[in-house]
Amino acid sequence: MKAVLVSRFHPLLVALHWLLAVLIIAMLSVGFLKLATMPNSDPQKIGILLIHMSLGMLILALLVVRLIVRLRTARPAGVTTGNRLMDRIAPLTHYGFYILVLLMAGTGLATAILAGLNRSVFQRSGEPLPQDFGIYPTFVAHGLIALLLVGFILLHLLAALYHQFVRKDRLFRRMWFGRRTLDPSARAK
Ligand code: HEM
Repeated sequence: MKAVLVSRFHPLLVALHWLLAVLIIAMLSVGFLKLATMPNSDPQKIGILLIHMSLGMLILALLVVRLIVRLRTARPAGVTTGNRLMDRIAPLTHYGFYILVLLMAGTGLATAILAGLNRSVFQRSGEPLPQDFGIYPTFVAHGLIALLLVGFILLHLLAALYHQFVRKDRLFRRMWFGRRTLDPSARAK
């Protein structure tokens, strides 16, 4: 971890942050609004599952890259909400995101293995999907963790808006592209 503090996050980290945000929100939307409402007998389901599972694994790979970039690049000093407890909770929720997304990919992959989706979805073997994924505890966990992830995303969004518009500390600027300079206030400390 670099001790140097800068005005913005590394551009690769910024790109990965927004790409992952779009991918994860799209996965949650398609998961809850499309996949969850489709019977497994629907012939279109295998095609959508193929995209869902591939993107899920891509998200996992991008998350690992993001974690490495975050650990190896200089980043801005932490911001304050003006409340000590909230300031302590914020970094914990950020690590919580990594854990939840890891668990989403893990439970999804475990469900796919239990249900033989490598054959029916990836190899198009013609085997039918199981009648209901709900028979696998890993899938029940997949759905519950997805709900928790939605809650985390809403909290994260509210906190970011609070910083930007109530505290007016220009938080969004740090997570966007632009000239990256040494943080003068951090150097003075
Ligand atoms: C960040 C990653 C992921 C997110 C956000 C996500 C999200 C979701 C959501 C919201 C659902 C619907 C849950 C429900 O019906 O209650 C779902 C279903 C499913 N997911 Fe994922 N998923 C992810 C990764 C994966 C991966 C990596 C796999 C497998 C390799 C996978 C396999 C499945 C399967 C088999 C279903 C069942 C489809 C159905 O609802 O009938 N998921 N996912």
